[in-house]
Amino acid sequence: MQLTKEQERMLAGDYGEVVERNFRLLVRLGEIYGADRMIPVGSVQVAGVSYKSIGDPGLEFLEDLAGKGARVKVPTTLNPPGMDLVDWKELGFPEDFAEKQLQIMNAFKRMGIMMTATCTPYLVGNLPSFGEHIAWSESSAVSFANSVIGARTNREGGPSALAAALCGVTPNYGLHLDKNRKPGFLVKVNAKLRSNSDFGALGYHVGKIVKDKVPYFKGVKDADVDQLKALGAAMAASGAVALYHVEGLTPEASMMDTNGLETIEIGEKELREAYGKLNTGKDPDIIILGCPHASLKEIATLAHKLGGKRLRKPLWICTSRVTKEAATRMGFTELIERAGGKVVADTCTVVSPIERMGFKTTGVDSGKAANYLPGFCKQAVVFNNIDELLKKVLA
Ligand code: F3S
Repeated sequence: MQLTKEQERMLAGDYGEVVERNFRLLVRLGEIYGADRMIPVGSVQVAGVSYKSIGDPGLEFLEDLAGKGARVKVPTTLNPPGMDLVDWKELGFPEDFAEKQLQIMNAFKRMGIMMTATCTPYLVGNLPSFGEHIAWSESSAVSFANSVIGARTNREGGPSALAAALCGVTPNYGLHLDKNRKPGFLVKVNAKLRSNSDFGALGYHVGKIVKDKVPYFKGVKDADVDQLKALGAAMAASGAVALYHVEGLTPEASMMDTNGLETIEIGEKELREAYGKLNTGKDPDIIILGCPHASLKEIATLAHKLGGKRLRKPLWICTSRVTKEAATRMGFTELIERAGGKVVADTCTVVSPIERMGFKTTGVDSGKAANYLPGFCKQAVVFNNIDELLKKVLA
């Protein structure tokens, strides 16, 4: 790999142990994947934040790094931790868990990482431009950045994203290159997509088939940003899809050639089958929406549906702190709380320890959450659109 003079010095330890160690990791990664050089990145999204996922070894690693003076070189935002950083006590998060989680957050803060605590950084100020090279972890955000925005990132792991943040560069391979952004499958959608959960079911089904290839969708007539984030998140979870194109909707679709691609047909039958596979429970103890983190529009929709009603069971909608502030300002939080629900900031369904909080069956409208909850949180899942989920918990 071709390194600049300055990068040679990084490798030689001229900029200290932290930079040397992290740059070495990036060089190794580049060598494995045949990168020709390092490229500067405009921003980084760091995942691996919840104490539930990284545990004590992760906490020690981050504290060590922060203690050695690690500082990020480019704007860097952070994935959700395992709890609401403000209202954790009121929501019933365990005290021992909270203590460790706050230590983790402090280590990230000392490194100069912005405490956005969300998997939708593009909704709260980390919005890359078309074609910009970035290094993001968090598979749903990676998918959104590549597909909907047209920025360029590989599906980074927590450590490689952190290394890119500390060095300001990433190896030039994979989805940074034009040749790897071409579709590998054509997906013809004949089913009618009505709700976010329909997009999640579609994503779940397609991700299982295409795995880490790039699907090109035809027949998706219309989709808003929330539906595209639901589609991408589900495909990234059931497969390892980091980029997709939708004819007439996503920015690179018109540049792609779909001739001769293997074709997958999706009708109502395939969509129903996906719902069937994701439903493992009947009667939810709690409904958790906002995976990926809810936009202001999604919170507004829920607030209007709950206005003047009363919930019999807990309902959370997870979002970023910034979005919650706006929702509160608009009176949406109050409407949801008056019905008995909560706007939970910072954390999410999957990375919070809900299995320790007495919940056994969770209702979700997210294909990604439905895919992960049984394994990560020992939950039975009720997967459906918001209206059907609300019927199960409204008084
Ligand atoms: Fe985000 Fe958590 Fe879902 S990180 S995409 S809300 S599993």
